[in-house]
Amino acid sequence: MDARTVIAAVRDGRVGPDGLAWFARGLADGTVTDAQAGAFAMAVLLKGLSDEGRVALTMAMRDSGDRLRWDLPGPVVDKHSTGGVGDSISLLLAPALACCGVYVPMVSGRGLGHTGGTLDKLESIPGFTVDTGEPRLRALMRDVGCAIVSASARIAPADKRLYAIRDVTGTVESVDLITASILSKKLAAGLGALVLDVKVGSGAFLPSVEQARALARALVDTANGAGCRTAALITDMDRPLARTAGNGLEVGEVMDTLTRRAVTPRLVELTCALGGEVLALCGKSADAGQGAQAIRATLDDGRAAERFGRMVAAQGGPADFLDRYRDHLPGAPVVRPVPAPASGVVAAIDTRAVGEAVVHLGGGRLKGGDPVDPRVGFSALAAPGDAVGADAPLAMVHAADQAGADRAIAALQAACRLGDAPVSTPLVQERVA
Ligand code: URA
Repeated sequence: MDARTVIAAVRDGRVGPDGLAWFARGLADGTVTDAQAGAFAMAVLLKGLSDEGRVALTMAMRDSGDRLRWDLPGPVVDKHSTGGVGDSISLLLAPALACCGVYVPMVSGRGLGHTGGTLDKLESIPGFTVDTGEPRLRALMRDVGCAIVSASARIAPADKRLYAIRDVTGTVESVDLITASILSKKLAAGLGALVLDVKVGSGAFLPSVEQARALARALVDTANGAGCRTAALITDMDRPLARTAGNGLEVGEVMDTLTRRAVTPRLVELTCALGGEVLALCGKSADAGQGAQAIRATLDDGRAAERFGRMVAAQGGPADFLDRYRDHLPGAPVVRPVPAPASGVVAAIDTRAVGEAVVHLGGGRLKGGDPVDPRVGFSALAAPGDAVGADAPLAMVHAADQAGADRAIAALQAACRLGDAPVSTPLVQERVA
């Protein structure tokens, strides 16, 4: 077996499970070069894999590193999103779940394409470290009950490499690659239950509802087949999830919601829906509705906020983050309104374009290894149905300099279409189990 043969077999639609397993090992041990990994990803994206091939790639990527086993006095659970804009649910959900008696070793990712990454968001907190290693992760589970960390070099190393290469080669948008990427990490983390947030709409990697259903089905079937109780919610990404997009800005919005200084209802709604599902899957709640109520209670009474503060401190962030997060989060030197091009109502938002604008402000990567600017992005984003005009801008832009702000203003203006008020779409659209 060699990389060239496997890539050609994928390209010609005749690759077998052995070839895919070989390639996953080659990604992890360095036999496969970056160029070959990029060509492989493009071939998979264009040609697709069979169901059997997708499962083989997922399992081989899972087995490319260590698999964690837990001995904790409660279920070990997690959630993962297929990627969105302004989506900071993990930051609310991990501590809320931990308050409900489950353990959450959340292995998260960095920004991918136009979407934000949980790890990049958390690194806007001074001192916060996501590279913990397994012994520290185990201590965090015992002491805090939740942690949000990067996949260590030993967890799914094949994904670690392929993820970074996909990010910069236009090869993210593939059911097979997204499934293998997400589940290789999640299955290696030794979970008992998993809920997946599959995005649909203009900001999702796979925008159409048919594609979202196919991805949800592939994820749910593959994960359950591997012994992890899993369900998926298909949720709206036809607009940024919340009112901010950009790493530090999103952390600020999460903190406002956790501390109840200014609650973003959509963040709460989705946190409760996803948390309810996973609490039901692992048997902690009788059903998803009861689970959602339990999650909401932790958000309402401040327990989730307190747990988040403990997690931040335990992962190296400021001990007083809960009380002084505005002082700790870095601010951008340029903050300006994004004027609405005319008076009217926001009819639609090209959400991918909003994510791209954040990336071009420096909030994401255009090539592997680029540093990420935690200060930049948008706040006070208008949503579909909002009136905008002379006194009501589309958003505030936060930029490193005036030229960056000018470009982002033009990009957001182009991304927002004014017109008739849109028919409102539910946040949670479908459940796949
Ligand atoms: N999240 C991941 O971990 N991988 C993907 O491919 C997409 C979202």
